[in-house]
Amino acid sequence: MRALVIGSGGREHALLLGLDRDPSVTELHAAPGNAGTAAIATNHAVDANSGDAVVALAREVGADLVVIGPEVPLVHGVADALRAAGFPTFGPSAAAAQIEGSKAFAKDVMAAAGVATARAESVTSVDDVDGALDRFGPVWVVKDDGLAAGKGVVVTPDRDAARAHAVEVITAGNPVLLESFLDGPEVSLFCLVDGDTVVPLLPAQDHKRVGDDDEGPNTGGMGAYTPLPWLPDGMVQTIVDDVVRPVAAELVKRGTAFSGLLYAGLAIGPDGPSVVEFNCRFGDPETQAVLDMLRTPLGDVLEAVANGTLADLPALEWHDGSAVVVVLAAENYPGTPRTGDPITGAANDGVLHAGTKVVDGAIVSSGGRVLSVVGRGADLAAARAQAYERLSQVSLPGSHFRTDIGKAAEEGRITL
Ligand code: GLY
Repeated sequence: MRALVIGSGGREHALLLGLDRDPSVTELHAAPGNAGTAAIATNHAVDANSGDAVVALAREVGADLVVIGPEVPLVHGVADALRAAGFPTFGPSAAAAQIEGSKAFAKDVMAAAGVATARAESVTSVDDVDGALDRFGPVWVVKDDGLAAGKGVVVTPDRDAARAHAVEVITAGNPVLLESFLDGPEVSLFCLVDGDTVVPLLPAQDHKRVGDDDEGPNTGGMGAYTPLPWLPDGMVQTIVDDVVRPVAAELVKRGTAFSGLLYAGLAIGPDGPSVVEFNCRFGDPETQAVLDMLRTPLGDVLEAVANGTLADLPALEWHDGSAVVVVLAAENYPGTPRTGDPITGAANDGVLHAGTKVVDGAIVSSGGRVLSVVGRGADLAAARAQAYERLSQVSLPGSHFRTDIGKAAEEGRITL
């Protein structure tokens, strides 16, 4: 199988590594890829958001499977263009990708499907911000209602900070979504979805704040671990039955059947799971840990979804134990990151690339989240130890990372 992966982050590096481990995959291509993916795939400098450019590349390389990593090409209809040209494609249509691209669409689908989620209000005028803030709190959740990769969310008990973010987003031209705060530990549950068929992967937990103990602003994700020792037995099945399958069925009913990876971000409260958000693609950095645990050949899994035969795929097989991923971020991330710094240890085992490129033969930083480092072990403690030991062998001037990924779970401090 010749596989082409669209995107350039740690998630795409993880997808390529998973495909590389699959003996049926004979050739790997990435577009545009990064300095890490170049070690296992041929990188192609094409515009990942252009259906025409991606179809032309799929033809050029004779792709048997195209996997679209990020949300932006999906929302732009790149999967539709590939399918129309006859390429087996992992990723939803633009219509189904609205589950992430339009928060209003997602709320409407959830309401129709009877799925628990936060109360929400869209605000488009600065004049309406104060009145809307009065209807929420004491913790405000203020979201940029555009594609912001998680970075457009401010969760704060400080009304002035909530107001400032809302005004900033509206002034920049996007609507703001105010949401009621969902209390309880968060779960990222990635599900393979092929119409009505839903197959969950291992549950994971992201760490969205930049600093230890969940201090500082939100980021795209600073680290994750899988599975979740504190999640009650049966909760994954409850989420599938009460949340993901009803949403998948509602999308089928609307004529916008989902095919790809449906990512349910949930808070587990006293009344059970509530949806924080849906995404139309694998999450980053959870994917780096989750796919490290997968024993079933990844090409078979993605191809089954792309070909509409997920219902026939045998049960997924997983490694025992746990996996942890820790993100190494550039100086000043999640603000404007410093780039162009040299990286050492970038080719080591377990080191996945995101914001990297090659300049004059050397690997340098080129984005905010630069690397993600994965460890796996017999339990969470062993996986954490390996991830942090591997991270200690890497250096990037000015960089920072969280030291507590998976720590609260390891110490049994997460309770429902
Ligand atoms: N893990 C957060 C995201 O992928 O959006």
